[in-house]
Amino acid sequence: MAKLTINDVNLRDRTVFVRVDYNVPMEEQDGRMVINDDTRIRETLPTLEALIGQGAKLILAAHLGRPKGKREPSLSLRPVAAKLADLLGRPVAFADDCLGEKVEKTAGVLKPGDLLLLENVRYYAEEEKNDPAFAAKLAGVADAYVNDAFGAAHRAHASTEGVARVIAGRGGPCVAGLLMERELKFLGEELEQPARPFVVILGGAKVSDKILVIDRLLEQADSLLIGGGMTYTFRLAQGIQIGKSISEPDKLDVARAALDKAKGRGVRFLLAGDDVVATPTATGKLDKKGRPVIEMRQPRVNEGAAIPESEAGVDIGPKSIGEFSEIIRGARTILWNGPMGMFEDARFAAGTLAVAREVAAVTQRGAKSIIGGGDSVKALNQAGLKDRVTFASTGGGASLEFLEGKVLPGVAILADRPQSAA
Ligand code: 3PG
Repeated sequence: MAKLTINDVNLRDRTVFVRVDYNVPMEEQDGRMVINDDTRIRETLPTLEALIGQGAKLILAAHLGRPKGKREPSLSLRPVAAKLADLLGRPVAFADDCLGEKVEKTAGVLKPGDLLLLENVRYYAEEEKNDPAFAAKLAGVADAYVNDAFGAAHRAHASTEGVARVIAGRGGPCVAGLLMERELKFLGEELEQPARPFVVILGGAKVSDKILVIDRLLEQADSLLIGGGMTYTFRLAQGIQIGKSISEPDKLDVARAALDKAKGRGVRFLLAGDDVVATPTATGKLDKKGRPVIEMRQPRVNEGAAIPESEAGVDIGPKSIGEFSEIIRGARTILWNGPMGMFEDARFAAGTLAVAREVAAVTQRGAKSIIGGGDSVKALNQAGLKDRVTFASTGGGASLEFLEGKVLPGVAILADRPQSAA
């Protein structure tokens, strides 16, 4: 069901609680937390600028990391307020809490077009519990709710769901932001009647993470290309030797069922058939979390699908790159989610970057390409190609759940567009 958006309501002079997903990667540099990738902040600018243009008073709420109800200073949203002010070119007030007297006071004196960013809502355990009393406090003086946090919409938390319930109960509008609208359009409507051939490229480590997506897309796709760690569970299910490659031996039935379904539906199900392999070697060192550091040594191309006992597959091989590229070149709609190998290591990035380049190239020739968030977007950024695809989702887990066909609680709570106006 399509949702009402900020373009359908007039929020002039309204105090609007805007949930955004500012869960951005940060790292400590000289004692300060620095934002590594501000994509999620930039992507909310159209919504914020439109709301400012309407003369709304904005209270922005977000989470950062998983502090589990504790005030973890490295997970403060303060650096985000500074970055947002830079990007918007206007001041953004910051509250060092998400509720309480000080917040209410600051929120109470906001003028049309003013912005206030609240501190990390997950500093309170009640956020993740979707505690009604906490949601009522968070809602505070707000009389309208906007959700632009697609990336967090699969969570039924206070700021993604409970606050909307409170504000709707007061008769206030609860609508989608413009980023949320785009995410729902591209990951939803656009894939319902895709121009054909519709090619789906899936990667990533685990079959179990993607099996529901595979199952659903087998109903729609013409071709499904599989690379990345999950390839090895499929190969294992076909009785092929995979050496020390990552796999889920308890998911062989699931893999076989997907292969059978593809055959039954006449979907071309293409597993990467050759690899770059390397020898996992213990270094005797431990990482920051106390786990043994394993280095991947002596990388080489392994022809054929069988991998020798001492080696592990770490990227798709040149033959698979050629086959995948040819199918991608003929596509008119593409959905890509998940890398083809351990692309963070430049030695094992060729497969993922080749897919990124082909997807970008076919998009320039008129195909529609939709990138399902997470690591594939990171890879596109790495290749400098993010602006060359039709749409790159800001969601990780949320994109996957949405592609599985699940109803996201942060979306369900928003007002439906009346059928006649659709
Ligand atoms: C994300 O980064 O995928 C979202 O912000 C959700 O974060 P979470 O998995 O900690 O709920």
